[in-house]
Amino acid sequence: MRTDVRSPEVARGPEAGIVVLRVNGRTHEVSLAPRVSLLDALREHLGLTGPKKGCDQGTCGACTVWVDGRRVLACLTLAVTCEGREVTTIEGLANDGELHPMQQAFVSRDAFQCGYCTPGQIMSAVKLLEEGHATDDAEIAEWMSGNICRCAAYPNIRAAIRDVRDTQHDAQPAAGGA
Ligand code: FES
Ligand code: FES
Repeated sequence: MRTDVRSPEVARGPEAGIVVLRVNGRTHEVSLAPRVSLLDALREHLGLTGPKKGCDQGTCGACTVWVDGRRVLACLTLAVTCEGREVTTIEGLANDGELHPMQQAFVSRDAFQCGYCTPGQIMSAVKLLEEGHATDDAEIAEWMSGNICRCAAYPNIRAAIRDVRDTQHDAQPAAGGA
């Protein structure tokens, strides 16, 4: 039988150190071991429970946040790798208490049931539009496929995304216009 002869300290890994995280425009100094995920740092150390822990292994999308403006899975991201970068969670989306248009669209379209997947869905959906992957329902479904909804609210989620897409499209000035 193979036994681990390392001391308990070595077996636990390196000790915690101070990590400076910038989240939703605020700077935090947190004591974290190097192996702590960004998701655990946000939820357990900063009290930001919007990002959800569904699978904790990169398959459900419930933990989706933005790092430097790109959507990432917080459960697969080490918190220490986020030093010096800008992290945004669902808590950082509303502006002065006013819902982000995507949040409002999810409410208007009733795009959730239990709501557990919703923060991740919304964080992904905003980026989906910025990335230009919302041409039609098939493309929306493909580029949102990393966000699982066990309540199967997919038709309403797509409707919410279409609403925001069409509003943004209508708001763009016509080519050659004043
Ligand atoms: Fe991160 Fe499921 S909790 S992908
Ligand atoms: Fe329940 Fe999506 S609304 S998991």
